[in-house]
Amino acid sequence: MQRYFQTAFFLFIAAALFCAPTFSEKIVIAHRGASGYVNEHTLAAYAMAYGMGADYIEQDLGMTKDGVLICMHDRTLDRTSNVADMFPERKREDGKYYPEDFTLEEIKTLRCVESVPKRFPREARLLQMVTFEEAIQLVQGLNRSTGRTVGIYPELKDAAAYENAGLPYLKTFMETLARYGYEGADATVYVQCFSSGILKRLKEEYKCSVPMIQLMSSDMVEEADMKEVATYAQGIGPDKKAIARDPSVVSRAHEAGLKVHPYTFRSDAFPSKFKDAAEEMHLFLFEYDIDGGFTDHPDVMRRVIDAGN
Ligand code: G3P
Ligand code: CA
Repeated sequence: MQRYFQTAFFLFIAAALFCAPTFSEKIVIAHRGASGYVNEHTLAAYAMAYGMGADYIEQDLGMTKDGVLICMHDRTLDRTSNVADMFPERKREDGKYYPEDFTLEEIKTLRCVESVPKRFPREARLLQMVTFEEAIQLVQGLNRSTGRTVGIYPELKDAAAYENAGLPYLKTFMETLARYGYEGADATVYVQCFSSGILKRLKEEYKCSVPMIQLMSSDMVEEADMKEVATYAQGIGPDKKAIARDPSVVSRAHEAGLKVHPYTFRSDAFPSKFKDAAEEMHLFLFEYDIDGGFTDHPDVMRRVIDAGN
């Protein structure tokens, strides 16, 4: 199994070498990497997404006890790792395992666990969690070896909780972006967050100059003042359900100068009125005119965009 996996992993790297750069204005954002196929937020998922032609690769960010940014979606380690088997005595009173209770060295002893049925085998224990820096190094390394310019799309998750725990979450984030050359309006990065307060802090306190995306739940979209969002962000990342309910959200955002990148398109979970996820993506991309979308299956969205209207 391990040998098969390694072979597949390197085949995708090889495929990336022959994947021509794309010049479409609409972008494929690999949601937690190619998370529909292999454990989310692993180097394998990021490399696979790269090989499948993603334009941007997403990293959700947590932080360890020793102040290292790590790629993970949830507030806790429970769903996506074997932490309960490895450190049974470290759960908090609520029965959960928090990343800021573990050093990076401890985090690196964990193995990732698939949580979505019918995806990568749950029993497989092949992959480790990765740091934000490792994710960047992978993307930048592949950019160098392929000649492409794929970007990163980090999400600041629970920033306030980490800062309240005394951890330098935002400072470390901004220092990391700068260390890897992500500065200025043309940087190949979108920084995303559901909290407008955090995005405004990045802009005002940390002088963040890279493109930022205001994430929005379905309820947030209804109340959004797009002109106000445009004072600090370059785009919105709405729940796609809000656009399905009212496609004029897209033109309202465009009129304010904002890009629209909704989440999340999945080949194994799409509304029953569509015959497949490609049909759903086509409607959003070419009828509703979104500028790109988050997807667990970046190969599918790549094909839809490249086929055109
Ligand atoms: O970041 C866009 C989308 O990923 C937001 O939802 O919960 O998957 O982070 P979530
Ligand atoms: Ca996210």
